Amino acid sequence: MSDTNAGTGHALADARERDAADPLGEYREHFSVPDGERYMDGNSLGLASDTALATLERVVDEWRELAIRGWEAADPDWFHYGEHLGDLLAPLVGARESEVVVANSTTVNIHTLIGTFLDTLPGTPAGPDPSADPPAVLVNDLDFPTDHYAIRAQFRQRGIDPDEALVAVESRDGRTIEEADIEAALRERDDVGIVFMPSVLYRSGQLLDIDRITAAAHEHGALAGFDCAHSVGAVDHALGDAGADDEGADFAVWCSYKYLNAGPGATAGLYVHERHHGTTPALAGWWGNDKSTQFEMRHTYEGADTAGAWQIGTVPMLSSAPIEGAAELVREAGIERVREKSLALTDYLINLVDDRLGDDFSVGTPREHARRGGHVAIEHPEGYRVSEALRDRGVVVDFRPPNVVRVCPAPLYTRYEDVWRVIETIEEIVESDVHLEYDPRGGGVT
Ligand SMILES: Cc1ncc(COP(=O)(O)O)c(C=O)c1O
Repeated sequence: MSDTNAGTGHALADARERDAADPLGEYREHFSVPDGERYMDGNSLGLASDTALATLERVVDEWRELAIRGWEAADPDWFHYGEHLGDLLAPLVGARESEVVVANSTTVNIHTLIGTFLDTLPGTPAGPDPSADPPAVLVNDLDFPTDHYAIRAQFRQRGIDPDEALVAVESRDGRTIEEADIEAALRERDDVGIVFMPSVLYRSGQLLDIDRITAAAHEHGALAGFDCAHSVGAVDHALGDAGADDEGADFAVWCSYKYLNAGPGATAGLYVHERHHGTTPALAGWWGNDKSTQFEMRHTYEGADTAGAWQIGTVPMLSSAPIEGAAELVREAGIERVREKSLALTDYLINLVDDRLGDDFSVGTPREHARRGGHVAIEHPEGYRVSEALRDRGVVVDFRPPNVVRVCPAPLYTRYEDVWRVIETIEEIVESDVHLEYDPRGGGVT
């Protein structure tokens, strides 16, 4: 193993110097980093931390000791726990506490929020003018599939043909979406009722301009919603101030198991701007009822006057408790500093790809900071086999078809040295052609 690269000056010693000077370096100690591994998959599943496990264990103890009394006697009480976690996450997404709640899964939140807002629009059975032409939802052709599945299902439930009403902005290069193309689509059609875009594209890692998209949607009379699964916990947000007049995005969803490090399948989060509070949720449930009357057990739903109204059933305490401890670390580190380190790590990674890997490798992630999320898409014609060979050598990355190795140096626990080692391992793999010993792509979770 060499520890220098004389040609570029990218020495291991340099990586170590960066680590020594890293103001967030101490946060790594909170995490269970798998022994001997370079864990680069925090954009898929973040690592366990002592603080997340502590709040989980506290809730387990409360269950053991308080049983049913935990709903009121636990601290914080379980009854308002979704709202409590919403308060903790609100600063991470740039929203008011009343606008954020932890509830459901991301996919369920897309269902309920798209359904809710479709029901406010002309051309839907529950909307103000059911006889009008149905509204379109503007998405893009690089979206994570679940977004389209959920929106299509919501259209079908309203008797609207999703093939007509789900409109995808096309990528020019197969990697990124131009905000200008979203604006052009809004100019070209006058039927868009909702623009629903990701904050960060799951494959290329492009960060989209939430401010600009919100402004464009509102200028054309559409609502602006966002899937922030790949940005919450890694990128600072200002959802509440987005748009031309700081009027705020309308709604957003995200998951807690990526950069928030709250564990596999942890309860998701959602944001609804306060101007929409009081709107009837499409998927109503008793947990979204006003807390003060919930236990009166009336058969008429009386929604909370906060984002809490979009909760559905009982808060899943064991899947939510780790969010409390995990969010504490992001809050303490400061989301701006987390973002700063994330960009420094991905800059470092991109430079190493450019300087040390051969021409078969390229970076599919935008280089401008303002257009880059928390991971880097390294493209290679044999990306799948390279990713498998990396995993066998203790470098945990994932693969996304057709040719993308996603490398995520999650800022709270990744060192510059880890990034350096990733590149070194890729070099070793391709120099020896050992990746060609792996079968071409099969199925399964990568
Ligand atoms: C952008 C995006 N949206 C939604 C999801 C899925 O959310 P869930 O399976 O938690 O409902 C993911 C999962 O990786 C994602 O990347």
